[in-house]
Amino acid sequence: MTRTPVNVTVTGAAGQIGYALLFRIASGHLLGADVPVRLRLLEIPQGLKAAEGTAMELDDCAFPLLQGIEITDDPNVGFDGANVALLVGARPRTKGMERGDLLEANGGIFKPQGKAINDHAADDIKVLVVGNPANTNALIAQAAAPDVPAERFTAMTRLDHNRALSQLAKKTGAQVSDIKKLTIWGNHSATQYPDIFHAEIAGKNAAEVIADEQWLADDFIPTVAKRGAAIIEARGASSAASAANAAIDHVHTWVNGTAEGNWTSMGIPSDGSYGVPEGLISSFPVTTKNGTYEIVQGLDINEFSRARIDASVQELAEERDAVRALGLI
Ligand code: NAD
Ligand code: LMR
Repeated sequence: MTRTPVNVTVTGAAGQIGYALLFRIASGHLLGADVPVRLRLLEIPQGLKAAEGTAMELDDCAFPLLQGIEITDDPNVGFDGANVALLVGARPRTKGMERGDLLEANGGIFKPQGKAINDHAADDIKVLVVGNPANTNALIAQAAAPDVPAERFTAMTRLDHNRALSQLAKKTGAQVSDIKKLTIWGNHSATQYPDIFHAEIAGKNAAEVIADEQWLADDFIPTVAKRGAAIIEARGASSAASAANAAIDHVHTWVNGTAEGNWTSMGIPSDGSYGVPEGLISSFPVTTKNGTYEIVQGLDINEFSRARIDASVQELAEERDAVRALGLI
């Protein structure tokens, strides 16, 4: 193999998403079937033993692309030379915890990780934050990494995007692959807005094909936005394989590009487009090419969409203000 291996760091590697993610990274699904990878598994001390077990299993797969595995509980080691960082490990909300407590606890994770990325990652580092609250955790990490271009910090809304594709396919009988130009706007939370007004189903406008605003408002949007909670209710644990799959999709698309005539959804630092305050990490329609992304411009936002985008962005602004008050950004 002649290509230089890409260093991929995964935090929370011993968790359930980590377990669903690592084998797919090592088998070439993250970056490509011809791209060798070196894995760094970052865990807290209590997670190290389980991470070692996962590493043994990775060894046992004899993946031709896997050029090494390192396990550590030190972010300075974990992010050393990292080209891609998947920040999955986060502090889950526990009983009696207020939102402010959750943001503060996660600040204790994402601030030092952002600093370690700033000080040790490779110049081309790309960061995807999966751990919740993903958008605001990404903002915290980004603020702690002033030497890294801000746009390298992204948050995952690809799972919401995939959920929306699937619901739309079910409703219309179309194939998922026939649906293009769907958008998730805003926060990865119940306020997110899955927008079908610019989407196409087999070349036809999706909103016109559906022609049922009530289904949109009362069924589609809440089903997509509350899917995470529905899965927790059904499984007794939050989504893992689908979340890992979406993380793979997010990075693969970022690195390898969107197809002509389509776009995807990513949580990215706003440049002020569509009235989203600059700097908030909010989900937008984006196209990607050569490892960079651009917000799709010029879309007409109708009143139905405007109110929903604004509500989710307002929530992001409140989260930003809360972490600012805590001195985390
Ligand atoms: P999990 O509890 O199974 O695993 C989390 C792992 O992170 C644990 O092994 C823990 O030891 C580790 N960890 C905690 N703090 C750490 C730190 N400072 N450094 C490194 N590792 C650390 O959780 P999970 O099911 O894998 O989910 C992980 C996160 O992803 C959660 O916050 C969850 O809410 C979120 N999530 C996001 C999406 C999304 O679409 N953005 C979807 C599903 C889940
Ligand atoms: C999801 O969308 O499945 C998760 O973000 C839910 C959660 O709270 O972990």
